[in-house]
Amino acid sequence: MSKIAFIGGGNMSSCIFDGIIKTRGFSDEIIVSGPHLEKLEKFAAKKATITTSNLEACQKSEVIFLGVKPQMLTSVLEELASAKLDFSNRLVISMVAGFRFSALERLLSSSRIVRIMPNTPSKLGLGVTGICFGNVSEDDKTLTHDLLKGLGTLIDFKEEESINVIGAVGGSAPAFLYRFLEALIAESVKLGMSEDQARKVIEQMALGTASMVIACQDQKLSELREAVTSKGGTTFEGLKVMSEYKFEEMMAKTIEASMNRTHEFERMFK
Ligand SMILES: NC(=O)c1ccc[n+]([C@@H]2O[C@H](COP(=O)([O-])OP(=O)(O)OC[C@H]3O[C@@H](n4cnc5c(N)ncnc54)[C@H](OP(=O)(O)O)[C@@H]3O)[C@@H](O)[C@H]2O)c1
Repeated sequence: MSKIAFIGGGNMSSCIFDGIIKTRGFSDEIIVSGPHLEKLEKFAAKKATITTSNLEACQKSEVIFLGVKPQMLTSVLEELASAKLDFSNRLVISMVAGFRFSALERLLSSSRIVRIMPNTPSKLGLGVTGICFGNVSEDDKTLTHDLLKGLGTLIDFKEEESINVIGAVGGSAPAFLYRFLEALIAESVKLGMSEDQARKVIEQMALGTASMVIACQDQKLSELREAVTSKGGTTFEGLKVMSEYKFEEMMAKTIEASMNRTHEFERMFK
């Protein structure tokens, strides 16, 4: 009997898989399913079982991670339901954006469900994962925390909507930040740096800045920013242009668009 199934072995499942084996030290209790066996070889190489049968993966497991795209989840769960799998014996942990408890409970005929919203830095143990518990026991809560602790920071939320918010500002935001860093690298190259030099400068700047944010808990981010900004200086001029081009407004629209897409999914999959 495998104990943990991943339905879908894509990017996010892979991050959580790595987080679990980092803390537990073994992966032979894990089974991963997906339509293309060759894409699951990376899990087999780490001693997990792989299969093209979602049903087999679920039958052999007590904990099931749902890791498919929102558009795939209904058909995946309907197929499992038609096989009369008893989900009340199993803890289901869904990482799928835009699928509310109500939709999951209806498709699974069980409310033993946890919704999580992780992000890809979880692969390094530096992620942030929002957790919202359905109607689960204290043991299930402890098990969820235990399984996910290798991913980085875990934050429990009572309100289901918080999962959508963390989806935008935690799940999607690494892509927004990558884009910001890509733009800085592109400008550095335009100004004469080699790609390698630019990448080195920008990655260390990002690491150092994030570390400052974490280290200086007694200071607001605005104070940290002001410490880099002398009036009339070079940073000051750069920040003025960010204001002229309405940076905050652009970020507000960016987060709003991400949230809107989640709400569209919720309407599609209710
Ligand atoms: N990526 C993130 O940063 C992030 C953050 C938070 C939450 N999420 C959520 O995580 C989920 C997965 O996202 P992802 O980025 O990991 O996507 P992904 O890399 O595309 O992974 C989706 C996986 O599902 C597999 N799949 C497709 N049809 C299937 C089926 N019928 N049965 C079983 N597996 C099937 C795909 O296999 P093939 O490739 O072989 O088709 C693929 O491995 C999404 O619901 C998303 O909302 C993602």
